[in-house]
Amino acid sequence: MPTSILITGCSSGIGLASAKALKERGYHVFASARKAADVAHLQEQGLNGVLLDVNDTTSMQTALDKILSITHGHLDALFNNAGFLQAGAVEDLTRDMNRKQFETNVFGPMELIKLVLPIMRQQGHGRIIQNSSILGVITKPYYGAYNASKFALEGYTRTLRQELLDTNIHVSLINPGPITSRLRQNALKQYKDSIAASQSGAYQTVYTKMEEDYFMPDASDRNMAQSPQAVVKKLIHALESKRPKVHYYVGAPAQAIAFARRIVPDGFLDWFLTKV
Ligand SMILES: NC(=O)c1ccc[n+]([C@@H]2O[C@H](COP(=O)([O-])OP(=O)(O)OC[C@H]3O[C@@H](n4cnc5c(N)ncnc54)[C@H](OP(=O)(O)O)[C@@H]3O)[C@@H](O)[C@H]2O)c1
Repeated sequence: MPTSILITGCSSGIGLASAKALKERGYHVFASARKAADVAHLQEQGLNGVLLDVNDTTSMQTALDKILSITHGHLDALFNNAGFLQAGAVEDLTRDMNRKQFETNVFGPMELIKLVLPIMRQQGHGRIIQNSSILGVITKPYYGAYNASKFALEGYTRTLRQELLDTNIHVSLINPGPITSRLRQNALKQYKDSIAASQSGAYQTVYTKMEEDYFMPDASDRNMAQSPQAVVKKLIHALESKRPKVHYYVGAPAQAIAFARRIVPDGFLDWFLTKV
């Protein structure tokens, strides 16, 4: 069973719930967040708060150096959880918006993995768990940047698994369906700072509906959202099982869609997903 774990994005949602649950389970948890105030809040809650911004190489290296000085050079597990959602029609997404989405959801996790792999190789074991999404398996309209980032994470992670097959470093993907967290509130802020200011006009009806529905705090309840604990359960399996799975689908909708993805023709699935 791994003892030390670094988790990214612990200011709220899945990251915070994971940090608390794993600490209670006896793990030596390094709960990271990108804002000093959130790190202080994590410390107040009895967690080892660490400042770490996945968009900043120096921040990641500094955080890791600090952790390794405490663990005498060991790190058993990494949960790449930090992420955000850039909403908007593909036609309206600028290069800058797409780049920011990839910086956080893809390039950050890639770089952090590159930093921890030598440590895991040296100690002879490790677990790396990526928080992807059901939107890393199927697509939905107006999630183009997010979909692309999670599909990229899937491709990268599957390659990594193949390259590490003859090692004792296990890599898994978690694919949650809707989870109650701050994702939607954070996505609304991102949307207001980006798409809302620069949209083409062709999707005004869609955006109005998103503002009235998708971004609302109770929208996740209407979408059969699970508590973050549902993700934590899968995370624990990925960390502790002798044979961790490649994919962990969280929630009935995610499991049903992942199954349908394998047996339903692409054209029908595309049509169906535009109606959901
Ligand atoms: N909620 C869902 O329905 C759902 C479904 C599938 C997958 N997921 C995935 O689950 C992960 C966690 O999201 P959540 O649902 O728990 O949402 P959340 O409550 O918004 O948490 C996201 C976390 O990521 C952090 N973050 C964002 N940018 C960062 C950066 N540059 N460096 C470090 N941390 C950063 C946020 O920090 P700040 O507070 O500083 O922004 C926050 O701590 C994400 O990867 C998301 O894509 C969520």
